[in-house]
Amino acid sequence: MKLLTSSLVGLFLVASAVVATPAQHAFVAHHEALNPSSASSEFPPARSASASLASANKWTKITTMEALPNYQLRVKEPKLCSTNSTQYSGYLDTAEDRHFFFWFFEARNAKREDAPIILWMNGGPGCSSFTGLLMELGPCRVDKGGETLSFNKYGWDDKAHVIFLDQPLNVGYSYGKDVFNSMEAGKDVYNFLQLFYYSFPEYAKSELHIFGESYGGHYVPATAKAIHEGNVEHSAKIAGGQLGAGEGEKRVLPLTSIGIGNGLTDPLVQYKYYSQMACNSTYAPVLRQDECDAMDSSYPTCKRLINACYKWKNALACYPAEMYCNQVLLAYQRSGANPYDVRTPCEGGNLCYPILADIDKFLNMPEVQKELGSDVSKFESCSQKVYTGFTLNGDWMKPYVFEIPPLLEAGIRVLIYAGDADFICNWYGNKAWAQELEWSGSQGFGSESDHEWAVDGKAAGEARSHKNFSFVRVFGAGHMAPYDQPENLLDLVNRWVSNKPFY
Ligand SMILES: *[C@@H]1O[C@H](CO)[C@@H](O)[C@H](O)[C@H]1NC(C)=O
Ligand SMILES: *[C@@H]1O[C@H](CO)[C@@H](O)[C@H](O)[C@H]1NC(C)=O
Ligand SMILES: *[C@@H]1O[C@H](CO)[C@@H](O)[C@H](O)[C@H]1NC(C)=O
Repeated sequence: MKLLTSSLVGLFLVASAVVATPAQHAFVAHHEALNPSSASSEFPPARSASASLASANKWTKITTMEALPNYQLRVKEPKLCSTNSTQYSGYLDTAEDRHFFFWFFEARNAKREDAPIILWMNGGPGCSSFTGLLMELGPCRVDKGGETLSFNKYGWDDKAHVIFLDQPLNVGYSYGKDVFNSMEAGKDVYNFLQLFYYSFPEYAKSELHIFGESYGGHYVPATAKAIHEGNVEHSAKIAGGQLGAGEGEKRVLPLTSIGIGNGLTDPLVQYKYYSQMACNSTYAPVLRQDECDAMDSSYPTCKRLINACYKWKNALACYPAEMYCNQVLLAYQRSGANPYDVRTPCEGGNLCYPILADIDKFLNMPEVQKELGSDVSKFESCSQKVYTGFTLNGDWMKPYVFEIPPLLEAGIRVLIYAGDADFICNWYGNKAWAQELEWSGSQGFGSESDHEWAVDGKAAGEARSHKNFSFVRVFGAGHMAPYDQPENLLDLVNRWVSNKPFY
């Protein structure tokens, strides 16, 4: 949640959501009646570019495509993160005032033309993908104090090109109109990738993998759905000889897999497992048995509310489920334990990870913003406004899990992995929904057993694969698994993108 990743901030925000005022409840009903897709009218105005910053930016390339008249890609080549390979940063702009920031790193140890592309998104909702970049899996990590960066030899740019994308809007350096729905950005991301591949033909053969963490368990299926549907439509036009003006510049994007780490994807199943993680995990219990019994006795009501959300998929049906079910998270939060890691207390403020303050400091330095080409002058690791917007919109409990079977049936590989010390998107809940997922390989997945996944001869976790679907439990890692077990997570991702088995 940002929670997932922002989780960090997530829980803190959950607390404020649970005490939502009657006015906010009324707002949801009102907004639902009037305008199901945008909650922006009752919020402060959306962020916009700082005129002085934006005019000072020097772009090395601006790409447009005839088939995408309302989009452009602005790119520069920053020199910041301690890698010697090519970097690009910049924005996807839309005619409707949406500006998505990205930062790309070319693979350090692979041939440019052969390496796959991984698109990475953090969660929240409302947290910047710079968390992944500067704390987890990027080629560099922010140093204590937030003024410098150090090389991270376990960066996922080892064998893959990696794009860190700030979405939804008004997260990280992205800005523009507010959008509080995980589905909404999908089409923009599809067009971003079209422009990216068009602009950099040297990656034409690079297979595409969409990865995310935490609330990314919503974004990743939503994004992959948009890409897959765009591909199906484009293929049909090619087959029917119906390409319109300029559409020959577009391509069938080489979507090969998706990966979700410690995600929130199927809340109906996942909310059942909080008590097990808090009282009866493979680590020491965090709560007393009576507190876990209380969690269990609230699950039937929670389940009924989430079922209604799954049925209606709108704010009116989904918001009550959030309000009711997330009280489980509050009980945990009161214990003082880190919701992202049952092994540790929450230290360093609401975020539980002091390094996040260093990331904030680094990305607020004017010289850093200038080098990266940021149009905005204020960076926050997690945006409370975006979080609240998503919450009020009921997005949290919606069933993004339903988007996964069509991907599997289309031959797109799906990886679900989870650090086994995380509470908030714990491995029990993730493994349970993976086993309950209905697709043509359900039975085979159910009867497959768990196997050791080893790195350098040492047990790194447990994996289960059937056909194109894998679940991996990562030993000794919390919510941000690549932060806790960088070497093992690099092994995991390198195996996955090169289609090598875990066991
Ligand atoms: C980058 O290149 C310099 C000069 O060749 C070298 O000293 C440095 O170790 C390289 N950095 C990385 C991360 O490979
Ligand atoms: C704790 O977990 C174990 C293993 O999953 C299970 O056999 C046992 O029944 C659980 N105990 C309680 C009190 O739930
Ligand atoms: C993955 O899906 C593709 C397309 O359906 C299929 O050809 C391939 O055999 C599958 N892979 C495995 C390991 O089953």
